[in-house]
Amino acid sequence: MKIGVLNSGGDCPGLNAVINGVVGAADKLGWEVLGFRDGFEGLLPDGCDYMTLTPDDTSVVAGLGGTILGTTNKGNFAAKVGVGDVAKIPAEIMDKARDNVNKLGLAGLVIIGGDGSLTTALQMSEEGFDVVGVPKTIDNDLQATSMTFGFDSAVSSVVDALDRLHTTAQSHKRVMVLEVMGRHAGWIALWGAIGGGANAVLIPEIDARVEKVAQFIIEREKKGKRSSLVVVAEGAKILNGGIVTRCEGEASEVSLGGAGEMVAKELYRLTGKDTRACTLGHLQRGGSPTALDRVLSARFGVKAVKLIAERRFGCMVSYKSGEVSSVPIADAVNQLRLVDPDGEVVQTARALGICLGD
Ligand code: F6P
Repeated sequence: MKIGVLNSGGDCPGLNAVINGVVGAADKLGWEVLGFRDGFEGLLPDGCDYMTLTPDDTSVVAGLGGTILGTTNKGNFAAKVGVGDVAKIPAEIMDKARDNVNKLGLAGLVIIGGDGSLTTALQMSEEGFDVVGVPKTIDNDLQATSMTFGFDSAVSSVVDALDRLHTTAQSHKRVMVLEVMGRHAGWIALWGAIGGGANAVLIPEIDARVEKVAQFIIEREKKGKRSSLVVVAEGAKILNGGIVTRCEGEASEVSLGGAGEMVAKELYRLTGKDTRACTLGHLQRGGSPTALDRVLSARFGVKAVKLIAERRFGCMVSYKSGEVSSVPIADAVNQLRLVDPDGEVVQTARALGICLGD
């Protein structure tokens, strides 16, 4: 038997560990694994663009960030443009990929991806491809799984950044604003703020006003606090209810960025306090996965092979209540999993005295 694996969309700490899980489990069954390069694009050239993967190749890179297969969040298979806008993959692209996959004689294809890539996976499944999905995104915003791999690593880098910003902010009596990733969902910002001891956090799910944060900082100062740390999710709607975009990139989604700078300028104007902004950006996506992400990724990869062995195509690996199970891919991409503004995590932040700008 021969199976394929590909990852698509933004990279994410833990991708190599998932691939290693797939290769390890397949090897135990005596199956060969082909790893397609640069996401779905690897399915298109005549004969496909792939590398044959063995446990010797993948075990040595399981702890590394990035992906040995390469990836892309643009190209011929982009099925999602923003929230809810689904584009149909052109028939000639599907036909070419099908032809190539059939020629290779693949018994199944593991697709590791986030919302956009799993939407493509769903379309492929509906077109008769034997695919299984593995949920990937640092944003942790996929329905039907309570955690995606990469999230813990991203949050860890936010916490590390806040620890560093804390000491410099204290020394200079400054307000430090940290912009973090989180396009539609504020999970990274919220968990990071709680874990890193931030004083305020702005997330896309809560209508926030910078004036409220400014007032909060002024009150803190009256109580003798020398500094304040503010976390801003890149997708926070601080621009009269709108998001701050950097530029229209080549990727399928508009590039976000600048919310942190904007909040910092406004906080300086409103409080008069020396304020600096820092954007964590792709530092959250690069680097080695945490131990939690390595283990979760390995479990996800192994489970994906099990799904193929059981011919449970059209399913995605999912993590719920500490167990790795599976759900239909359709359940994961219907809707994003956003932070509940009244939920327990937000309440935890409020109980700790963190201002959410509302
Ligand atoms: O979806 C994951 C994510 O990291 C978002 O949080 C962020 O907006 C986006 O990817 C950045 O993508 P790119 O690598 O194209 O800048």
